[in-house]
This record gives sequence, C-alpha cells and structure tokens, in this order.
Amino acid sequence: SWTAGNIIEEQVAAIRAQVGSDRVICGLSGGVDSSVAAALVQRAIGDQLTCVFVDHGLLRTGEAEQVEEDFVAATGVQLKVVDARQRFLDALAGVSDPETKRKIIGREFIRVFEDAAREVVADAGEHGGEVKYLVQGTLYPDVVESGGGEGTANIKSHHNVGGLPDDLQFSLIEPLRALFKDEVRAVGLELGVPEGIVWRQPFPGPGLGIRIVGEVTQERLDTLRAADLIAREELTKAGLDREIWQCPVVLLADVRSVGVQGDGRTYGHPIVLRPVSSEDAMTADWTRLPYEVLATISTRITNEVKDVNRVVLDVTSKPPGTIEWE
Ligand code: XMP
Repeated sequence: SWTAGNIIEEQVAAIRAQVGSDRVICGLSGGVDSSVAAALVQRAIGDQLTCVFVDHGLLRTGEAEQVEEDFVAATGVQLKVVDARQRFLDALAGVSDPETKRKIIGREFIRVFEDAAREVVADAGEHGGEVKYLVQGTLYPDVVESGGGEGTANIKSHHNVGGLPDDLQFSLIEPLRALFKDEVRAVGLELGVPEGIVWRQPFPGPGLGIRIVGEVTQERLDTLRAADLIAREELTKAGLDREIWQCPVVLLADVRSVGVQGDGRTYGHPIVLRPVSSEDAMTADWTRLPYEVLATISTRITNEVKDVNRVVLDVTSKPPGTIEWE
C-alpha cells in the first residue's frame, strides 16, 4: 500500500544503489519539489550531497531564511548559498519589458548556478570525490507533460534552473518522478521538511522581478515585499491559504495615483491583489475573497507601506488574464 514511509524507504535504497560513493549536487529554490527531492537524497546519502541556493534578491520576506536556516536545521543538508542580489539588480537596471526581464533573470540564474556548481565540483575533487549526479524535483505530471521520454523531463521550459551546460555533465536523480504533488507533500512532511516549505503556494522562478510593473529597483522590491507580507499574513490569519491557489501581489511602479494620507496629498503607487483559484494553473478563476479580509489587507498596506496609497483587486480569470502580470 502507498505510504510516504514506503516511498522513502524505496527511494533511499534506489538512490544509494545508483550513487554509490559518488557526490551529488542539487539546486534549491525554496519551493516544495526541489526541497523534498533534496531532503530525500540527503536522507539516503547524507554529506555526499551538496545543495546550492542562489539568492537572487527577488524572493519574498522570509524565503531565503526558510532555506538557509529552517531547511538546513530540519535536514542537516550541506548548503552552499550564493548571495547574488546585487548582481541581479545590476543586470536588471533600466529594464521594464517583461520578457527582457525574464530572459535576464533566467540567464543570470544559470550563470550563477553554473559557477557555484563548478566550485562544488572543484571542492569535491580536492577531497577525492567526483560530482556525477544532479538532483531534480521532477514530478509525474512534469514527466507526462514533456512526453515522458528519458531526459525530456528536464524542468519545464517555464523554469529557470534548466539548461545546464554540456561541459558540466551530470546524470539525473529524480526521486519524485512517480509522484503527484499531494504525495510529494506527504513525503516532505514525513522527512521533516518545514511546513512552510511543504505547503508553499506556487511562486515563479523570476520571483518579484515579474511582479513589479516597471523597472526593478531595491526600493521597489522593499515596497513590494512589505505589501506582499501583509497580504500573506492576513490570508493566513483568515485561514485561506489552502483555499487559494496563490495570490500574487503586484506593484504598479510605472503608475501613480493621487491620494490623501495623513496631513495631505500623496502621489503614490497602486498595489494589485491577484488571488486565484485553480487546479493546475492552466486556467484559473479570481477568488472571491471575503470583503473583510480585503478591507484589512487594504487598510494595512496603505497605512504601513511607504509610497503606496491605493490597493486594487484583479477580477480577471485566466484566460484571458495570465496569473502573473508579466
Ligand atoms: P501564468 O502567469 O502563466 O502562470 O498564468 C502560471 C503559473 O506558473 C507560475 N509561473 C512561473 N513559475 N517560473 C516558474 O517557476 C516562471 O517563469 C513562471 N512564470 C509563471 C505562476 O506563478 C503560476 O503559478
């Protein structure tokens, strides 16, 4: 019968048999799939695994800490953190076009990850080991979507961590290949992966970079992070986390509107709330959030977040609107 415990036992044995005494590398994004895959491989081979986490500075409040502290504390995994925040800001300077932003973020991500992977490989060599394997959190639906053939499940085109260069040749370890998302979550909980990671809603690889309409700057990121944190806090407090698929919070940095706050007129930016209900993100409906929850989020954001004087609700389904704004 299917239990998370059985799956873990089976995969641990399979991973040990596959890897032997070689070394393994895994990219961590903070999402459910890569975290559970890493925890499983860690359970199997311990310190033969090194995880790499690229902090591109486009994460939400608490997410980097969740990986750097909570995940490490829970799993004991060996983690290499790359602080690439300034590098991404520099690369994105002056860029407003959504597709250009996505390309830049994807390109920089691969470069940074590649460099880190090379360092891990070099370090391992000094210690007499060889890095031969790369862990990927491929799930069953990913396998089906991409045609199911060997090697084709190399991360949805959507994602940004794919496409490692040919001169870094790894074989893949994909311990979640037979599982659906709910099963992955069960395995994660059984492995002691922090609940905040196990139950995390989808968050795009390019992160907040595609939730600022306009140029990405440090100040705007801070503004958006503050607003996003308030929305998440209130949705959690209202017990709505499992009901909504995700709720992008978007800063319209290129739009200004007049407001009246405190002692006078302000000329600030709108924040958009985009709560959606969905089964698979291919289609989605806007979530009819309770008015009281919306009211609290709106009041708090306009009171607490500098430069924001208006909160608007996106009432568009997908199609025609995509879930993200960019
Ligand atoms: P859209 O905006 O296309 O989003 O309706 C569908 C789902 O995919 C997520 N998304 C991404 N995930 N890398 C990701 O890993 C990306 O570049 C990316 N773009 C969108 C989005 O959050 C939603 O869940």
